[in-house]
Amino acid sequence: MYVPQQVLTNDDLAQRVETSDEWIRTRTGIARRRIAGPGETSSTMAIAAARAALQVADADPREIDLIIVGTTTPDYLFPSTACLVQNALGANRAGAFDLSAGCSGFVYALIMGHQAIASGEHRLVLVIGVDTLSRVVDWQDRNTCVLFGDGAGAVLLRASEGPAGVLATLLGADGSGGGLLIIPAGGSALPASEETVAKRLHAIQMNGQEVFRFATHIVEQATEQVVKKAGLKLEDIALIIPHQANLRIIQTAAKRLKLPLERFVINLEEYGNTSAASVPIALCEAIRDGRLAPGQNIVLLGFGAGLTWAAALLKWSVPAKAVVPGYRNLWRRWLYLWARWRSRGRQFLRHLNVRLIRLFTRNHRD
Ligand code: COA
Repeated sequence: MYVPQQVLTNDDLAQRVETSDEWIRTRTGIARRRIAGPGETSSTMAIAAARAALQVADADPREIDLIIVGTTTPDYLFPSTACLVQNALGANRAGAFDLSAGCSGFVYALIMGHQAIASGEHRLVLVIGVDTLSRVVDWQDRNTCVLFGDGAGAVLLRASEGPAGVLATLLGADGSGGGLLIIPAGGSALPASEETVAKRLHAIQMNGQEVFRFATHIVEQATEQVVKKAGLKLEDIALIIPHQANLRIIQTAAKRLKLPLERFVINLEEYGNTSAASVPIALCEAIRDGRLAPGQNIVLLGFGAGLTWAAALLKWSVPAKAVVPGYRNLWRRWLYLWARWRSRGRQFLRHLNVRLIRLFTRNHRD
């Protein structure tokens, strides 16, 4: 995982808009969030999270078959953020694409990665959830700006014969709710213009109460459905890692599912809603805190703009972190450096090629 250094507290926000630490804490559970610095973007955060995942798994980036980045705040409309990650890692064998499913992006991407492996086509898939919502938030709108933060999380999925892994999945969408959480401008419907900028149409607009209603219902429903699909019962689930949107959403769902709140991983006090990054960041922290043990069943659950939702039930199989020899990390660093030179070399050759062709055709004409 990766989160920016810069911390924005509720008190800091209270100096920008009419709000208070007390209001934000009681209505959302959020105390602070991380905000990307000037040099940081979705791709830089995704690359940092991906490198951390490769280090933990002691994997070689050149073995990756596929990179899927769940994000709605890519660096560019194109090229995809996944291609920027592919280039920085030197993952030369990998296909790469972005997946847009709002805050469900990571769980959607994880399910796609799992299916790519299940098809027998791929063996090692890098799945990343990243968002830089601070760049698309209206900092004058207290209804939304208090909720979001920036960050990235990544996992590596590897083909294996074991009984563990993804046991059941669930994808859902309800486009009729698209207008409830939307960035109206910047796409083909409303391209950027002076008017769209003046009307703040490039920022997030949200109907908070309707989204809240949808979220509480879907966390309950999707959890029950995915557990049933796996042939298990709720008591068999050791941990639920839901999208971190609002503490009250998780509390309400826990109550309806009749599960203790301790069964949920909750870290939104620290980071706010980091959109597609929230589930993998919470997963990384659960691992760090020793909350996951091999053999446990866990549910990852995303919901968000679209409207979309996704759930994956996994049997955890990753043993406690093994110590990776220092030389392996050095080797990976060398590969990243080599990837940068290789990328620049290819850009230079492409440039040279164009120049030579131009020179040749001009001489030919003359
Ligand atoms: N500080 C102080 N007051 C605020 C405020 C803020 N940051 N944001 C809104 N208010 C005000 C509203 O203007 C409203 O005032 P009014 O009654 O004078 O009109 C009042 O607080 C209550 O607003 P309401 O919308 O009823 O609050 P709420 O209890 O529903 O909480 C949200 C608002 C946004 C926290 C809540 O609806 C929510 O979390 N929704 C889901 C959002 C979400 O998770 N989105 C991402 C999904 S992926």
